[in-house]
Amino acid sequence: MDRPIIVALDFNSEEAVFSFLQHFHGKRLFVKVGMELFYSLGPNFLEKLKDAGHHIFLDLKLHDIPNTVHHAMKVLAKQQVDIVNVHAAGGSKMMKAAREGLEVGTPSGQKRPALIAVTQLTSTSETMMNSELRIAGSLKDTVKSYASLTEQSGLDGVVCSPLEVPLIKEVCSPSFLTVTPGIRLLGDEKGDQTRVTTPKQARELGSWGIVVGRTITKSETPVLAYENVKKEWSESE
Ligand code: C5P
Repeated sequence: MDRPIIVALDFNSEEAVFSFLQHFHGKRLFVKVGMELFYSLGPNFLEKLKDAGHHIFLDLKLHDIPNTVHHAMKVLAKQQVDIVNVHAAGGSKMMKAAREGLEVGTPSGQKRPALIAVTQLTSTSETMMNSELRIAGSLKDTVKSYASLTEQSGLDGVVCSPLEVPLIKEVCSPSFLTVTPGIRLLGDEKGDQTRVTTPKQARELGSWGIVVGRTITKSETPVLAYENVKKEWSESE
């Protein structure tokens, strides 16, 4: 799992996913499965992806009382995916419970999935955070303190914008993982993302892994788009 390019499978059916993956002719990818696909297709779908050799980031963003999250993670651990996540806003006790649930649920002899936390969603603006979530201060300071709390709670990393990675590195250890969406090749449509970076900029900012959706999934030539992302992502090493 070294510095992956994680392809966001934002499709609404199994047929659409596998017709997209067919372009890659059996190449093993690192893919992100979100709520829509998991809630409609369930664990069997994950099995099919694993059977095809793909690594999986299961992006369900758990956020509930510690006991509930503990038991949910215990169940998810049996899926043997590579990365799972929670909201850091659930607090330290919830994050610790998530990790313990994963440890208890991971079959013996297997590796537990990496556990990362969402600091603030990239759809949250500072104004919204202050006025609706009632969190005072700047978005940057909140992201920094949530990342630090995440590491202190024993988690492996965070999901964040590449632009936040340098801030996070100020307060977290070098081995703390930063998984960053909001990636576009030059000339791509931004879509609903506001602050985007290229794969090269993400690497230079210190991202550990990048999540890339529409740049690859909506391309007329997905394999070429993937290769272009890969070239930039590794060239800046
Ligand atoms: O198509 P695009 O590259 O923008 O897709 C990014 C993926 O990363 C989507 O699945 C989106 O839900 C996810 N994501 C994000 N921002 C976050 C967390 C997850 O864009 N903060």
